[in-house]
Amino acid sequence: MSITIKTGAEIDAMRLAGRLASEVLDYLTPFVKPGVTTDQLDKLAHDYMVEVQGTIPAPLNYAPGGHSPYPKSICTSVNHTICHGIPNDRALKNGDIVNLDITVIKDGWHGDTSRMFVVGEGSIAAKRLCNLTYEAMWRGIAKVKPGVRLGDIGNAIQTFVENQGFSVVREYCGHGIGQRFHEEPQVLHYGRAGTLEELKAGMTFTIEPMVNAGKRDIKALPDGWTIVTKDHSLSAQWEHTVLVTETGYEVLTLSAGSPPPPAFITTQA
Ligand code: MF3
Ligand code: CO
Ligand code: CO
Repeated sequence: MSITIKTGAEIDAMRLAGRLASEVLDYLTPFVKPGVTTDQLDKLAHDYMVEVQGTIPAPLNYAPGGHSPYPKSICTSVNHTICHGIPNDRALKNGDIVNLDITVIKDGWHGDTSRMFVVGEGSIAAKRLCNLTYEAMWRGIAKVKPGVRLGDIGNAIQTFVENQGFSVVREYCGHGIGQRFHEEPQVLHYGRAGTLEELKAGMTFTIEPMVNAGKRDIKALPDGWTIVTKDHSLSAQWEHTVLVTETGYEVLTLSAGSPPPPAFITTQA
């Protein structure tokens, strides 16, 4: 399969799926407090998706090649967990940082988005990492328009992150998205400007940089999913699903509770 170009009606379906994914995060936000377990957040999200939205949680039983079926409805990645953390019965505590990653399927179309949450009072270092990763995602998004290349996106993110002494995870990347959860292209969060695939209007993909406070090296846990930093340093991630428009981009995973874009973002689409 090559990169799919979405038509008008398909884009409308992606807009709906994207907004609904973001609204799951809006719904979860007031529950992210010291004492809540990630299992409780998973159940809240599952029931909201299935019973309120009429969406399907895409992670549940997701089993790409070589993986055991993912056992839960959302990913909850706490502190030094980079991504794909599996909800469990441990309570979040004051000062933790957690990424909640939501992917819904609505009418056969996927919307994929994640945000960082600081539980209670976070340290200056934790808040700085979360904010810098948010800006890194937007540095990538801001590049998106027809004629630009994927390497331009990766380069913008990598340069911004490394200039501040943080590191970008290389093993996981953004991805095309549509009727399939993960489709072409791979959207690397590092790379050389002017390289790789040229963007065309109608492409939809995620940008979801993972940034470590320490070294970029990763370790996979024996559960078959959870990825952590090898040096145990904190890690953060934010994710949006974006559409390439004729003139630039449209972020598909926005909702009433989305944090505002950084100040350097002046236009959308
Ligand atoms: N939502 C993740 C992404 O951004 C993928 C999670 S796969 C799962 O691509 F099976 F762990 F849910
Ligand atoms: Co994704
Ligand atoms: Co995701």
